[in-house]
Amino acid sequence: MLEINKCKDYQEMSDAVADKVEKQLLKKSEYCLSDNTWCDDSRFILPTGSTPIGLYKELVNRDLDWSDAITYNLDEYLDNTIHEQSYFHFMNENLFKHINIDEDNIWFPYDIAVWPDKEYGENVDLCLLGIGSNGHIAFNEPGSSFESKTRVVDLTEQTIQDNSRFFPSIDDVPTKAITMGLKPIMSSKKIILMANGKHKKDILHKALYGEITEDVPASILQTHTNVGVFYCD
Ligand code: PGA
Repeated sequence: MLEINKCKDYQEMSDAVADKVEKQLLKKSEYCLSDNTWCDDSRFILPTGSTPIGLYKELVNRDLDWSDAITYNLDEYLDNTIHEQSYFHFMNENLFKHINIDEDNIWFPYDIAVWPDKEYGENVDLCLLGIGSNGHIAFNEPGSSFESKTRVVDLTEQTIQDNSRFFPSIDDVPTKAITMGLKPIMSSKKIILMANGKHKKDILHKALYGEITEDVPASILQTHTNVGVFYCD
């Protein structure tokens, strides 16, 4: 089921999604307090990109307790020469270094070897997503199988072009990445998709109302039972 929320601007979208993250973090700690026994930690899937920057800023401002949280990032470039542009660096600068998360609870897809018999990031409480201009979620590019697992992928020309704004030149953009697959993403209990800007309007419409097809990876979200969409022009 899709619940679609149009926000008046980027700040309203960031605030609304921060509310959901805060609720998830508090839910677990309240449970711990009332039950007074061991409880599950809140588990999140987190995105990078320009879209969640305002959300992360808002979460940092709220000074929340992340000590029991576990996070799985969606993707990472496969190129260890790009330290400043790595998604680990992005997450550290925008969120991790400002909150009290235990660094042993921060996971990236290249850690998949730690779970030899399990899927990386499966069954989390809340998965946050952006959407690429070609309909990708994480680096699941058009044509990715709806059954895909965490794996190494080639980036499309469109994604390389889109991401070149973060690099000195397009030739510096990595062409390969490791991404969480669509299958583990869909195993999340709740998913929130964020989209910011007019340039995302058409692809968002296609993903939410168009044919459910591997050519538009985000269209798989139509088949999930609990998706909140937050967007602004
Ligand atoms: P953006 O990227 O947030 O920078 O627009 C989103 C994505 O490619 O998933």
